[in-house]
Amino acid sequence: MRIKFSKADLSTDQPLVLMISDGGKLLSSAQTLDKKTHQLMSRVIKNEDFEGTLGQILVLNAPNGIKSSKIALVGVGDPKKFRAGSAQLLGGKIYSHLASQKSVHVVVDSMPGSKLSAMECSAQLAFGGYLRSYRFDKYRTKESRKDQPKLKNLIIGVNEPNEAKKIYSSLSKVANGVFFTRDLVSEPANILFPESFVERARELTKLGIKIQVLGEREMRKLGMGALLGVAQGSQRTPRLIAMRWDGAPNSSSKRPIAFIGKGVTFDSGGISIKPSGGMEDMKWDMGGAGVVAGLMRVLAERKAKVNAVGVAGLVENMPSGTAQRPGDVVKTMSGQTIEVINTDAEGRLVLADAMWWCQQKFKPHTMIDLATLTGAIIVSLGHHHAGMFANDDDLAKKLAESGEETGERVWRMPLGDDYDNQVKSQIADMKNVGGRDAGSITAAQILQRFVQDGVKWAHLDIAGVTWSNADSPTVPKGGTGFGVRLLDRLVAEHYEK
Ligand code: BES
Ligand code: ZN
Ligand code: ZN
Repeated sequence: MRIKFSKADLSTDQPLVLMISDGGKLLSSAQTLDKKTHQLMSRVIKNEDFEGTLGQILVLNAPNGIKSSKIALVGVGDPKKFRAGSAQLLGGKIYSHLASQKSVHVVVDSMPGSKLSAMECSAQLAFGGYLRSYRFDKYRTKESRKDQPKLKNLIIGVNEPNEAKKIYSSLSKVANGVFFTRDLVSEPANILFPESFVERARELTKLGIKIQVLGEREMRKLGMGALLGVAQGSQRTPRLIAMRWDGAPNSSSKRPIAFIGKGVTFDSGGISIKPSGGMEDMKWDMGGAGVVAGLMRVLAERKAKVNAVGVAGLVENMPSGTAQRPGDVVKTMSGQTIEVINTDAEGRLVLADAMWWCQQKFKPHTMIDLATLTGAIIVSLGHHHAGMFANDDDLAKKLAESGEETGERVWRMPLGDDYDNQVKSQIADMKNVGGRDAGSITAAQILQRFVQDGVKWAHLDIAGVTWSNADSPTVPKGGTGFGVRLLDRLVAEHYEK
């Protein structure tokens, strides 16, 4: 879908979208058109109980005397409460209601009382519409035309189209990163495995990202027994990848912020094999790594003034004659040993080595890991918040704020010695599971044991938010890309100089 910004044109022959605020109040363009149509809109609003609440949409056939065939009324709610997120939501709703049209012309009036300018509103609306237009259809060879969305041109009519376009151009870079992540998350595991993930990530070198890849031999030399233990049951060999973006002005020595992703390209559970129902979902157990790659893409595309490194631990967790067994003890790169009680609790094993290596190699001041780590976080928070764990209140607060601002919300969970005691092992430094209770917290406790002194750390358990089974305004069902917008915002607000 193409996005265009132009002057508002009420005499266009394209379907028109007009804004109505709380209480069914027509904004200026709707008023103009109302006069030309014998108060069609005012009458409809009255008869149809259209209140103009945020996101409400009513599509009408246009009367004679109007060139366009359809008029859609969209509610903006209370202008005082209207924010960037509201505009994105409108964009998504407009897309989903009018996807059967070839093009639409959305007239964005300035809203008296709103903090958001018409230009900003236009750009955010376009961003929302574009995010909603995502489709992963590369493997459909027989889809009929009529099942495909027809909407090819989203035209935003606004007073100063060039200004709006400028704002949109930076948002579109974020969208590119989100789509990159959604593509990775949606790929099946026969296509996306550690080596092919690395190939995809190599595309980012075009944007100035430097890539370093470790193979099995290098990882063995470094003593990454936990990551390698997970990988040993699979025919696919593991990889550890680092993607660096050095954008901080004239300070190549500045310590970076690091993002680390769980990249289990398929999680069968290993010898502690998962039940077959729903196992196909485990193709997206590399969601954390996908977000890290998408985020790095955004930072590079928008030339963020930050030094950042993205690390992904890439493995496939399979049962076989060479797979690790429940009861095995592995030694991590840090020197700490782990008793593997359950081979399905593999993400923490992968992250233990990936996080340690990242800290040794890049000396980050702050480290944020993302992982589809536990089913238990879905029991706790459902699909509306990611679980957040942090050793630093300030970092936790910043993440929570960025979450509210982008709609990718996180909810802080506790850490503490009582939970840490649950992962004590009789024969090793720790075991990889802490029992049924507090499953997400004990998983985070294990990760915390691999955080070095002085490093600010947060862990986002994204198991509940990486994939969606229902459409929402800016996220069609499937891979969500949750985390890209959140962390891009975090970096933009707090880590760029
Ligand atoms: N990848 C899963 C967690 C998961 C579950 C992600 C559902 C997305 C949706 C993880 O590796 C896992 O299997 N965790 C186990 C841990 C248990 C064995 C302690 C779980 O959550 O059941
Ligand atoms: Zn697992
Ligand atoms: Zn897993």
